[in-house]
Amino acid sequence: MTKYITKKSGKYWPSKEMKKIAWVNDDKIYKQADKNPVKFWEKLAKEGLVWKKQWDKAYVEKLPYFQWFKGGKLNFCVNCLDRHLGKDKTALIWIPEPVKEKPVKLSYGELHEKVCKFANVLKKLGVKKKDVVAIYLPMIPETLITMLACTRIGAIHSVVFSAFSSDALKARIQDGKAKVLITSEGYYRRGKKELLLKKAKKAVTGTSVKKIIVVSRFGKKVSGTKYLDFQKELEKADSYCKPEIINSEDTMFILYTSGTTGKPKGIVHDTGGYATQAYWTAKWNFNLHENDIMWCTADVGWITGHTYAFYGPLLNGATTLIFEGSPDFPNPGRWWDIIDKNKVTVFYTAPTAIRMFMKFGDRWVKKYKFSSLKILGTVGEPIDEDAWDWYFKKIGKSRCPIIDTWWQTETGGTLINALPGIGPFIPTVAGKCFPGTKHIVVDKNGKKVKTGKTGNLVQCSPFAPGMLHGVYKNHKKYIETYWKRFKKYYDTSDGAYIDKQNQIRITGRTDDVMKVAGHRLATAELENAINESKIVSESAVVPVPHKIKGEVPIAFIVLKKHNPSEALEKQLKKQVDKSIGPTARPSKIYFVKQLPKTRSGKIMRRILKALLVGEEPKGLMTLVNPKSVEEIKEIISKK
Ligand code: WTA
Repeated sequence: MTKYITKKSGKYWPSKEMKKIAWVNDDKIYKQADKNPVKFWEKLAKEGLVWKKQWDKAYVEKLPYFQWFKGGKLNFCVNCLDRHLGKDKTALIWIPEPVKEKPVKLSYGELHEKVCKFANVLKKLGVKKKDVVAIYLPMIPETLITMLACTRIGAIHSVVFSAFSSDALKARIQDGKAKVLITSEGYYRRGKKELLLKKAKKAVTGTSVKKIIVVSRFGKKVSGTKYLDFQKELEKADSYCKPEIINSEDTMFILYTSGTTGKPKGIVHDTGGYATQAYWTAKWNFNLHENDIMWCTADVGWITGHTYAFYGPLLNGATTLIFEGSPDFPNPGRWWDIIDKNKVTVFYTAPTAIRMFMKFGDRWVKKYKFSSLKILGTVGEPIDEDAWDWYFKKIGKSRCPIIDTWWQTETGGTLINALPGIGPFIPTVAGKCFPGTKHIVVDKNGKKVKTGKTGNLVQCSPFAPGMLHGVYKNHKKYIETYWKRFKKYYDTSDGAYIDKQNQIRITGRTDDVMKVAGHRLATAELENAINESKIVSESAVVPVPHKIKGEVPIAFIVLKKHNPSEALEKQLKKQVDKSIGPTARPSKIYFVKQLPKTRSGKIMRRILKALLVGEEPKGLMTLVNPKSVEEIKEIISKK
């Protein structure tokens, strides 16, 4: 079996075979790109995408905003589909969760026709360029069809994670003022039918949504004038839709993500810049060629699903595989079986999944050969050495590089990682900045720290083409979150250090954002959800390390007058399910009499965290109620 890596002086590097097949295999690329990043990206944009009109200016910066390929015109959908027509290639493989249900394969031609038809359905409903379309769908082919249809007509898609609650969907619909929502009857999860339509119906009441298009997953069709059946509408529509010509700097999609404040922000991504970064990062990080089958396990409700489960592989004319269900259903061999059966060549997942499989034991992976795999990827949180090692040996069979990619919803595409043809692949180290981008580590005053010192990871100008273009209708939040602390640098809110070889190690978030099983959540968002309950006086949520999920939220709650009980604990967990979704449910709730606060009334979550992880809390002198600490200590020790 081909070995794609080799060990030299204690580190893993690409093998000769990998160098031979790699799009980039010479580390001179970094220096070349560095000389003139704008020119570099200009060349990539020209080479990688089909443009209707060349841009007038490649990069315009007026901080805190900047634009790529200004004046350029293109259509994103054309870049994903039309240019690959006639190659008789599979674009999508969909694996439904029920083992007995047959996988669906769509060629580029078939996908193109369905996308055109659905674009015509949207047009018939009055959806126009720049209108927001809300999408509340699981991992099924219709999700991709719907999203691409939006891009064909220049509508802005706003995808909401299917495991989010009705309330969460409503808030996102209201922010984007969508007139059309696309959802499904539901989906299969661990052999059970998860119902989506029910939640969607509740969410749309009192919102701008006029039409709801429903994918019938379990066979029941909707009817009426407000609720339309996806398939029926598709059948009636014309099979060609002329693509709209879109300005490069026009918004292509919004995706909501958690920040330090309570309400999720709508991250705005443009068309040309995003497409350029999605195309090239997918191509170079995963060495995608047209005969590759890429499986990115992320749900489309998150940015990784957008860029690498859907768009990156399609822009490159490769095949993307998506899976509806749970990784361990009907048994923990399901994912591995999918890889072998479908000859997946590139596999991209999150450390939390790897840790879960480690726990299931090696017997579940032993049966599989993984001989089709060439490249493994990881994303979403720092990967620990044990998980890296297991992934490398048990899945990669010690022959595939692991590409540890650092990036964010805001960055649109990956930014820090090793390239498969260049290396090195070092456990727990993400790697170098993608060619043509630059990150440095600064102290709290924005001054560059010494090599090897930990500090705040920031991005330098010119900012990468895939970067966000603002927070949807919220200029203030955009400035406050990303530009207030370091002014001329984009603030990632991650900690990191950079060694002498320019290798970057990410140390984790420096704000109140946590990663629970790879999902991005904010403590304030959870507190808001808990505080919505009438019985709660106040609450504080802190993340603590968890062996599999990376982090889990723990809630400290002060009740108004009720006595703590298990029933109340259940009720409050349900409250979080209702407000955000089960993904955010606190793993433990402690009912306390008071929360440790400073004189100015600030809740000291740092102290709560120290108590939870068994450290001696510092800074008790600043508290107005130091007694609370002893009290909480006792409560924790009892539970
Ligand atoms: C974290 C996910 C360490 C980081 C694409 C970042 C990582 C946040 C890595 C963004 C990695 C992502 N190593 N940490 N390889 N990748 N992160 O918006 O804290 O869901 O700021 O985007 O995930 O999460 P988001």
